[in-house]
Amino acid sequence: MNPIFTSSICLLTAVIYLVSLILYRLYLHPLSGVPGPRLAAVTSWYETYYDLFKAPGGQYWNKLDELHNSYGPIIRINTNEVQIHDPEFYTQIYAGGSTKRNRYARSVSGNGSPGSMASAVSHDLHRLRRSSLNPFFSKAAVLRLEERIQSRVRILCERLSGFLERKEIIDISVAMTSLTLDIITEYSFGESWNLMDRDDLSYDFIKVMRGGFETLQIRKLFNSVIKLIPPSVLAWSSPDMKVFFEFKDVHLHFQLEALDRLPKEEIETQRLADEALVLITAGSETTSRALATIIYHALENPDICTKLQQELDAAIPDANTEVSYSTLEALPYLTATIRESLRISALVPNRSLLTADQPLQYKQWSLKPGTAFCMSTSKYLLDASIYHNPTVFDPERWLGDPQSTQKLLHHFVPFSRGHRGCIGMNLAYAELYLVSAHIIRRFDMRLYDVIRERDVDTVRDAFIGLPSAESKGVRIEIIQKRK
Ligand code: HEM
Ligand SMILES: *[C@@H]1O[C@H](CO)[C@@H](O)[C@H](O)[C@H]1NC(C)=O
Repeated sequence: MNPIFTSSICLLTAVIYLVSLILYRLYLHPLSGVPGPRLAAVTSWYETYYDLFKAPGGQYWNKLDELHNSYGPIIRINTNEVQIHDPEFYTQIYAGGSTKRNRYARSVSGNGSPGSMASAVSHDLHRLRRSSLNPFFSKAAVLRLEERIQSRVRILCERLSGFLERKEIIDISVAMTSLTLDIITEYSFGESWNLMDRDDLSYDFIKVMRGGFETLQIRKLFNSVIKLIPPSVLAWSSPDMKVFFEFKDVHLHFQLEALDRLPKEEIETQRLADEALVLITAGSETTSRALATIIYHALENPDICTKLQQELDAAIPDANTEVSYSTLEALPYLTATIRESLRISALVPNRSLLTADQPLQYKQWSLKPGTAFCMSTSKYLLDASIYHNPTVFDPERWLGDPQSTQKLLHHFVPFSRGHRGCIGMNLAYAELYLVSAHIIRRFDMRLYDVIRERDVDTVRDAFIGLPSAESKGVRIEIIQKRK
């Protein structure tokens, strides 16, 4: 046959296929009636453009905010995905109880830990994996291990004193990640990584872990290829990676096999290592960023710092004593400051896409089973119709009359809600209270060349929210120990 004829046929077939696909997605797809940019309805490259190519990367969550302004509360954000922004609908999306919620398969594609509960697509498999861990993260379980957290706070304060003696500047965001990693590794494996013991607070290691977040948007596209590269090659390609894999090898193949609640195929070592990796990554940088945000805003606003220190001085008359989590939880201004930090810092801008086995009705739209839907937790916490001047750090907003506080708490979802909400919330709160209270009580500090837009605010979605790539960290100078 004539080769020109053959290739023309092939080309023609491809064109017909593409044109039909585009027409289907625009006019016949079950979501064709949902408002949104036509390009997003046709191709996932629309999302990829904002997340991968639009500087500084990870920008679709911001773009979607703009789109809600033009298209309303429900938009088609990808061929088979919608985002709803409606405060009264959040708990139907992130539902608990008897409502089943599956994770949308496409949205675990960038995930390096397929065996984890966070990557479990089906509702039932997720329940199975999660229920074996739930008891370890209840409030009672956290309280039983409070002394372990206190001992890490003690080490942190010793390290801070060292920086004071040497008159050295410290990047508190690194110190906080080092601390939260030491806590979560001890908590999960019974054996801490002791990152705080090293002079640089193990900055080399933390840099690599953070680098892992930075690559999320690329991994979303190319994960299937990246997975084929053996760790030894990655380790060889960069000394930083080598440090990381050494740690991972030694520490991730741990003793969780002992968990007898799980069926045999679920206690395979690789699966547990996946679970461990998620606990470590989800449980460290998030809490660390929340802590660094508290320190930043307290030092940036002398008023806030004074009020915190007055409250803490009354609760902890002797700076060298330690107070319990339950004592601290009862302090109103500290509580307001912690809430404000969790609200303003956009810690998890990642779109958590779920699907349902039943149709989901939102206003006049009926979303068919299998359609992916989400609502942005971060944008909900910055919604101007709920929070006046949402980008202003203002603990006082939590200290109005009980009714208005109750209303705010109804909308307060930093840990998301329902079946897929954060498992580590109780641990995170214990850390936030114990760490921030003790260091603010014990040290006078000042910021060292910190710019909020560059170093503190979340500007990129990298699963967790990251500050700009130019960030120099949250550097502080420790002035003196307080009496
Ligand atoms: C301030 C600190 C934290 C914040 C703001 C936070 C926030 C969140 C959010 C919003 C989710 C839901 C993600 C989604 O829907 O896809 C989540 C899930 C998760 N978080 Fe946290 N988290 C924090 C601390 C922790 C800690 C300390 C741990 C330690 C164990 C942890 C472990 C997890 C895990 C394992 C999941 C997945 C749960 C599942 O799929 O069932 N987080 N977190
Ligand atoms: C959210 O984060 C997960 C885990 O890192 C990733 O697999 C997923 O692709 C992200 N979702 C989106 C929509 O970016």
